[in-house]
Amino acid sequence: MSKFITFEGMDGAGKSTHLAWFADTLRQRGLDVVVTREPGGTPLGEQLREMLLNQTMSMGTEALLMFAARMEHIEQLIKPALQAGKWVISDRFSDASFAYQGAGRGMDWDKLTQLEQWVHADLQPDLTLFFDVPVEVARERLSNNVSLDRFEQEQSDFFERVRGGYHQRVQQNPQRYAVIDAAQSMAEVMRQLEEIVTSI
Ligand code: TMP
Repeated sequence: MSKFITFEGMDGAGKSTHLAWFADTLRQRGLDVVVTREPGGTPLGEQLREMLLNQTMSMGTEALLMFAARMEHIEQLIKPALQAGKWVISDRFSDASFAYQGAGRGMDWDKLTQLEQWVHADLQPDLTLFFDVPVEVARERLSNNVSLDRFEQEQSDFFERVRGGYHQRVQQNPQRYAVIDAAQSMAEVMRQLEEIVTSI
């Protein structure tokens, strides 16, 4: 049976590195896995990503474009793949909009809930791996990057709020999440992921 799995966490938490390993491990077990990302995942979504990561815009525009890219992503890629029996792993989904646009930027949580209801009332991830890490650790990891996008350039207080937003989402619906202590060593994070692979 198909499953929809999302990876979440603040920039610098290391989720993207682990996503590739996680997908390969599932493939080795014979599953047909599609890896995708947000914002992005479709030609239009990737164009919106380019704008979202690089152009200054109002908070509302940012939230609407995130959900516009998501609607396209769901209709063009996620739902068709799930219907074809594939497993879909997305690097971010709506939790990121609540954490970044909601908690980070201060966009009204109820407005985001309305957008979530409009865009995917009938679809939620079966499982979300939340890579949790203290802000200073994430910042330290990001400091090795040569060029930072509009979100990565934000200050520590923004990321403290983002982390709080993720925690709020986890508290609202704890059974959907596996919280991973991403401050641990690579080997320890892999051990946590292996346990998750076995359990699903
Ligand atoms: P990435 O660096 O993990 O690929 O994500 C791109 C950036 O977009 C990241 O800084 C988080 C941000 N983002 C939001 O602000 N809201 C969203 O809904 C999504 C999907 C991403």
